[in-house]
Amino acid sequence: MAKHPSIDSYVDDKIAKDEFEKSLDDGLVYIGHKLMVPNKGDYFVLPSYKGRYALVNTGESYLMLSNVCSHRQALLLEGKGNVKSINCRLHCWGFELNGKLKLTPLFKEPVKNADLESFELKEWNGLLFKTRLPDFDLESLGLSEYINFEGYEFAGSSIEQYSFNWKVFMEIYLENYHVFSMHPGLKKYVTAADLEWKTGEDYSVQKVGLGKSIQTGNTESYTLWQQEIIKHFEPNLPRYGAIWSLIYPNIMIEHYPNIIAISTVHPLGARQCLNQVEFYYPSQLYKEKPQYFEAMQKAYAETAVEDNDACMLLQKGREALHSRGDEKYGPIEDFLEKGVEEFYKFLAK
Ligand code: FES
Ligand SMILES: [Fe+2]
Repeated sequence: MAKHPSIDSYVDDKIAKDEFEKSLDDGLVYIGHKLMVPNKGDYFVLPSYKGRYALVNTGESYLMLSNVCSHRQALLLEGKGNVKSINCRLHCWGFELNGKLKLTPLFKEPVKNADLESFELKEWNGLLFKTRLPDFDLESLGLSEYINFEGYEFAGSSIEQYSFNWKVFMEIYLENYHVFSMHPGLKKYVTAADLEWKTGEDYSVQKVGLGKSIQTGNTESYTLWQQEIIKHFEPNLPRYGAIWSLIYPNIMIEHYPNIIAISTVHPLGARQCLNQVEFYYPSQLYKEKPQYFEAMQKAYAETAVEDNDACMLLQKGREALHSRGDEKYGPIEDFLEKGVEEFYKFLAK
């Protein structure tokens, strides 16, 4: 059985910080998808880095570029947009898209060593990584038709802040056991026990079958979403209602019929985390049937609220143990909770 993370790691900032840094050394660092910055000059300031870096398409490469001016450290870019060059509003220093300093008005001497720090990103299926690429062969895992961004566009992203440890989010994401009790809508949309697992050094994947009778839903938002699916696919309904993959430590690629979501959860100390969710839709269908995507968003949001509830139960339980200095762990159900076991193995490495 895998070693459970220590109870301290859920409440102690120092332990949590070391643990996350270590998990990034062994795992992957996802920065963004190239569809977020499809054209030369496009930029997207990275909220998960609190604006410290921006994703930039230079026309030749995708960079994670420092977003702080090398003169007096003013913030350079905000939000997202397109620029020909990066210009500081404060004293008008100018940088090329690759961060090279080119303008320093009124400075008499040329300024040296003041280019913006940059990291050239590596691409895997459009996802851009900082250190290395995942060992995650979509073809052999039967995922290439699902995690496929061809004809897709970046439809937007949202950020949610939570009051629990980042690992709790992963623990809930990686098991289907709680679906029966915590998700009235989702549990009818999928067949939680119709589950296929694939696991590897860098990833785990759960493919979950579509519900058996989705004509009616258990909640209003799932009823609407299920009706959109039926209208779109009938008589050939999709095999899977959801495919939930994780690239360690914190990169979730989710597939729902005609939708891909990428979310990354980032710790903000031991007891808080932030989740950034990016949505990718097929451009043509998005134009023709916006209601399909609106329906999915509502169902997704309903499930996210329930997951927050589930996560808070885990966090509070561990806080309670911690307050008494207790270390307690329970058994893991090896089918429904397989992903949790694999995640603990990754963390223990
Ligand atoms: S702070 Fe940017 S030019 Fe001075
Ligand atoms: Fe859940």
